[in-house]
Amino acid sequence: MINPLRGMKDLTFEESQRFNFIIKTASTIAKRYGYGYIETPILEETALFKRSVGDSSDIVSKEMYQFEDKGGNDVCMRPEGTAGVVRSFVHAKLDRQPVKQKFYYYGPMFRYERPQKGRLREFHQFGCESFGEASVYEDFTLITMIGQIFEALGIGFDLQINSLGCPSCMPPYKKNLVGFLTEIKEALCEDCNRRIDTNPIRVLDCKNKTCQSLLTNSPKLIDNLCDECDMDFTKLTTLLDNAGIHYKIDTNLVRGLDYYNKTAFEFVSNDIGSQSAIAGGGRYDKLVEFLDGKPTPAVGFAIGIERIMELVQMPEETREGIYLGAMAEDAVEKLFAIAATKRKETKVTVEYNTKGFKSHMKGADKVNARYAVLIGEDELANGTVWVKDLESKEEKTITVEAF
Ligand code: HAM
Repeated sequence: MINPLRGMKDLTFEESQRFNFIIKTASTIAKRYGYGYIETPILEETALFKRSVGDSSDIVSKEMYQFEDKGGNDVCMRPEGTAGVVRSFVHAKLDRQPVKQKFYYYGPMFRYERPQKGRLREFHQFGCESFGEASVYEDFTLITMIGQIFEALGIGFDLQINSLGCPSCMPPYKKNLVGFLTEIKEALCEDCNRRIDTNPIRVLDCKNKTCQSLLTNSPKLIDNLCDECDMDFTKLTTLLDNAGIHYKIDTNLVRGLDYYNKTAFEFVSNDIGSQSAIAGGGRYDKLVEFLDGKPTPAVGFAIGIERIMELVQMPEETREGIYLGAMAEDAVEKLFAIAATKRKETKVTVEYNTKGFKSHMKGADKVNARYAVLIGEDELANGTVWVKDLESKEEKTITVEAF
C-alpha cells in the first residue's frame, strides 16, 4: 500500500465539509471588506522566496521544497502566499495604478518541517493582502476582520501584537541588540549563536527556555521606535482599546519571515496544543519595492486552515433534497425523469435497487434527505408518487406532474 508522504494528509469527506465551511465563511467576510479572489502558482522561482521571506529565515534556509526542474530552473513549492501575490501584483503592473488593491487567496503551502500535531509539510492557508494603504487604520481593519472571521467560525483567540519598526529605527536597535547578545553569547543555544550574525531579531523568539530567561532584560524595539512608528503603534493600541479588542503586547513577537516592518501580529488559540498560532500577519511596506515594483505600502495576514479545523463550530446540518426509491421493479426507470427535473433545483439521491418501504426510509435518513419519494405498484399504476416530508412528517400521494 502506498501511503501519503510524511506530514501530508488527505482531506476526508467529513474534513472537507469543515474545510469548505471555513473557506466560504472567510471569503464572504473578506469580500465585504473589498477583497477580490486571486490565485497564483504553487511553483515559483526559488529566488522569489529568497528575496522576500529572507535567505536567513528558517523557511528559506531549512524548509523549502526546492528542486531543479527539467529545464534546469531553480524552483520551489511556495512555503507561503504573500510573496507570490506580490510578484503577481508587480507582474500585472498594478503597482502603477493609483487605486488601492485588495486580494484574498487560499490554497496549499509547503514547508519541510518536523511534522507534529498542528504542523504539517503540506498545509493550507487563507490569506488577505492589501496594497496601497499606508495608514495604520488598515492594520486595525485587518485585525478586526480576522476577529470577525473567527467569531463567525465560533473560535476563541488571544491576539498578540508588536511593532518591528522601520528602516530608520530597526538598524540602530539591531546594533544595540547584537551588543547585548554578544555579551551573553556563551550561554545562548547553538541556533541563537548562529542568528546573532545572520538574523539577530530571530533570537528574541527562540523557544529554548534558557535563552528566553536570558532575554528578559534584552533591549526592546518597542522602547526604541522612531516617532512615526511609535505614533502608529500607539494609534493601533488606542483603536483596539476603543473597539474592545483584547490584545497583549509581545515584545518578542518577530515573526519568521523577514519582510515585515511596523505592525506584526499573531492570533493564538489555547485549545490546540503547542502549535498554537492560528493566524499571523503584519505590515510589509518594502516588499513590493524589493520585488522590483514601485514603492507600495502593504499589509496582510494568513490563517492556518488545518489548525482551526478542529476548533470550528459547524452549523447544524439541515435535511436537504430528495431521496427517490422504487418498491416495484418496473418503477425504477420512472425515477430518472423525476430526478432530472428536480436536479435543476435541489440535491437528488436515486436508489437503483428495488427495496421495501422500511429499507428506503432508512436510506432517506442516511443521506439526510428532506423528502422521501417512493413509487410502488399502486403509484406506478396511477401515475402518482408517495411523498413524505421528513421534517414535518407530513405524507401525501400526488401525481408525478404535480410533484
Ligand atoms: P505564517 O505565520 O508563517 O505567515 O503562517 C500563517 C499561519 O499558517 C500560521 O499562523 C499557522 O496557523 C499556519 N501554518 C504555518 N506553518 C504551518 C505548518 N507547518 N503546518 C500547519 N499550519 C501552518 C505567513 O505565511 C505570512 N505569509 C502571512 C502574511 C500574509 N503576512 C502578511 N500577509
